[in-house]
Amino acid sequence: MIIAGASGYGKTVLLNLLAERAASIGGMQVIGIDAFANGLRVERAIQDCTCYKVGLEHTVNILDVIFGWETEGGWENNQILHVVAQVVMLLGEPGESADGKKRFIPMKLESGERGVLALAVKRLYQQYGVTPDTPVAAMPTLTGLIHVLEAMGDPVADTFARRLRYLIYGSSTEQGEKTPDGVAFDGCTTIDWRFEDTIVYYDFKTVPEILLPFFYLQALAAVWRYVRTRRVTRDIFLMIDEFGYASQVEAVANAAWVIAKTARKYRLGMVLVDQTMRPFLDTPTGRQLHANAAAHFFFHMQDVEAQDVARAMSVITPRALQFVIDAEPGQCLGVIRKDAYEINVECHPLEASAFLNS
Ligand SMILES: Nc1ncnc2c1ncn2[C@@H]1O[C@H](COP(=O)(O)OP(=O)(O)O)[C@@H](O)[C@H]1O
Ligand SMILES: [Mg+2]
Repeated sequence: MIIAGASGYGKTVLLNLLAERAASIGGMQVIGIDAFANGLRVERAIQDCTCYKVGLEHTVNILDVIFGWETEGGWENNQILHVVAQVVMLLGEPGESADGKKRFIPMKLESGERGVLALAVKRLYQQYGVTPDTPVAAMPTLTGLIHVLEAMGDPVADTFARRLRYLIYGSSTEQGEKTPDGVAFDGCTTIDWRFEDTIVYYDFKTVPEILLPFFYLQALAAVWRYVRTRRVTRDIFLMIDEFGYASQVEAVANAAWVIAKTARKYRLGMVLVDQTMRPFLDTPTGRQLHANAAAHFFFHMQDVEAQDVARAMSVITPRALQFVIDAEPGQCLGVIRKDAYEINVECHPLEASAFLNS
């Protein structure tokens, strides 16, 4: 499911109503990922909800396995590419995205250099006997990757090893003390992922913007492991607000797609929210997420934006398009398969006092 529309018109309110009603009426479990303190509001409003706050006091291990055994093309090759993409991003330069948000510009590689990293990750996984079943506490870390790179006796591998050493230890020789990046990324994952309550939120508000994509990836990987290995008793909603920013990082969009394409089999529904449809129209992965979505909800959009969406979806008639452009807060166009509905999102007074007026 995709929810899009301009800021301040009711996306998060709808998301929270969905969470609350799916849990209380639908008997579903809800998992939310958020970096804007909305999880705390939901926790205050709903008894059976826990919001975990996650910041830089935690370590995330970018080597953790996200892919399961059943992955098309094999878990290992997909996983290696996934780790290489993250290492290249972590070794990149701080820069800005088109919308002015801080992000890493991935390190520039000469052709073929990527292969060296891929081989190193492969060897590291073999040394540790890593499989999709390996618990996070038994995973190798970036320091392990440095050792494999150094043992390769190759000039390109040496370059990666040195850069990683500088990133983690701030030095090419010392390895006693770690940099903040080293603390955040070199070690086994310490976030205690618990998906026990009916509604579980993970809040990344205190994570620096530039590092958010890595934390989102971790969260997606953790949810996916949980969903694939749990005893299936109820349906799950995975909700990701402000998805667009993190998904500018290819690895995040990819992870969402890995989950979305087999989600139904595991009785998981994903709800992705963003201010525009750009994340779902501009890249191949985004378009796959869009094409795979069972429903869309469009809150108010400016003319140009709304017209782009109408061009991409033939069920949006000129009348429906006008509805999106004229929509007031709390009104949205619901597109479910081949039908479009003009919707007023109505709250019970108790819901209104919990979820309106941010
Ligand atoms: N269903 C609704 N009914 C009445 N007012 C709403 C409704 N949804 C949103 N609003 C108003 O719009 C404000 C912003 O909603 P919010 O969901 O935070 O917007 P978004 O997430 O799209 O930026 C709310 O605080 C509330 O005042
Ligand atoms: Mg919002």
